[in-house]
Amino acid sequence: MAEKKITLSVIKADVGGFVGHSTIHPDLAKTAIKELEKAVSKKLLIDFHVTNCGDDVELIMTHWRGKDSSDIHELAWNTFKEATKVAQKLKLYGAGQDLLVDAFSGNVKGMGPGVAELEFLERKSEPVIVFMADKCSPGAWNLPLFRMFADPFCTPGLIIDKSMHDGFIFEVVDIHQNKVIKLSCPEQMYDLLMFIGSAENFMIYNVYRKTDGEVAAAASTQKLSLIAGQYVGKDDPVCVVRSQSGFPAVGEILEPFSFPHLVAGWTRGSHYGPLMPCTFKDATPSRLDGPPRVIAAGFQIAEGKLIGPRDMFADSIWDYTRNKTAEAAEYMRRHGPFEPHRLPLKEMEYTTMPQIMKKYESKFLSMDGSAKDKNKGKKITVTTETD
Ligand code: 13P
Ligand code: 13P
Ligand code: MG
Ligand code: MG
Repeated sequence: MAEKKITLSVIKADVGGFVGHSTIHPDLAKTAIKELEKAVSKKLLIDFHVTNCGDDVELIMTHWRGKDSSDIHELAWNTFKEATKVAQKLKLYGAGQDLLVDAFSGNVKGMGPGVAELEFLERKSEPVIVFMADKCSPGAWNLPLFRMFADPFCTPGLIIDKSMHDGFIFEVVDIHQNKVIKLSCPEQMYDLLMFIGSAENFMIYNVYRKTDGEVAAAASTQKLSLIAGQYVGKDDPVCVVRSQSGFPAVGEILEPFSFPHLVAGWTRGSHYGPLMPCTFKDATPSRLDGPPRVIAAGFQIAEGKLIGPRDMFADSIWDYTRNKTAEAAEYMRRHGPFEPHRLPLKEMEYTTMPQIMKKYESKFLSMDGSAKDKNKGKKITVTTETD
């Protein structure tokens, strides 16, 4: 095998739900497969796998063109466009939902689809896990990525495997400022946690092995509401992690998902709910459009070919976590329209607050009990700051 880096690109978009936002119609996957088969025959791709998590179509592709290749991004864009035509014909829900611009311009980032890409020299054996989630924001990966690569209570290899013992570097995006910072673990762990604990503001983007800078993981961090300036559906992110021989073992990579942590998303993109690890078949969120789902597709890469997928959560040991998820979902649901089930005002993707505030603005009285409104004539604003 030549000393040439391969690229694993995972690009996803919701181009129409069947029924509502619960899953995709089989014709969408068929259309995507047809498009990507053409790309293989033109030698643009080495290999591909098309799948879905809930109503999001995922294109998992290998090629030689590197990260951010406009050819590969354009291929993904055109594939989603073709699938959108089918979705429109079948009047699927929200046809073309994540395609936020009319024409492709060089890179799908900022245009709606979510992207996670890794470029590396294929090792003697190259196991990778592709995580795909529905009904949640990209902040959902912060806790599991931290636990895989920095928490010795999750990953014993951090202590007992000399190739991982020096730790990992986390590249974090401030999604409001569009800036990135690298923080090294274990030394800067507490600083890192200050940022990534606020998962709706700071998101892990890449993880690198400290000893040689080799890339270990990549996550999509695209937030649709920031791109579109309004709610257009949840981001439903993807994340790719390399495994074994100097990276966490497959078991260490899956282990964080044994705790169904609360993530922002769920129904109308406006509620916190537990992230449920499920089988490919079960990635069909239906209880109040949820709870949020994550699937894990395992592949061995051989000369760029994707050997797999294995459905990594199709093991009955995960039933315990799934039952815990159902309990946590029930507990959160009982809060109804109250926080912390409903997201804080600033994070909600749907809101009627501006209209309601406008309607009652002039009816707010001063706190001293007098009927006379001391604030009369003054504009009353209610802060939507949450912390
Ligand atoms: P093997 O010794 O079976 O290769 O397993 C090593 C490992 O990574 C287990 O977590
Ligand atoms: P999606 O982001 O998966 O399209 O879901 C949107 C929604 O509002 C579900 O209630
Ligand atoms: Mg949808
Ligand atoms: Mg979705």
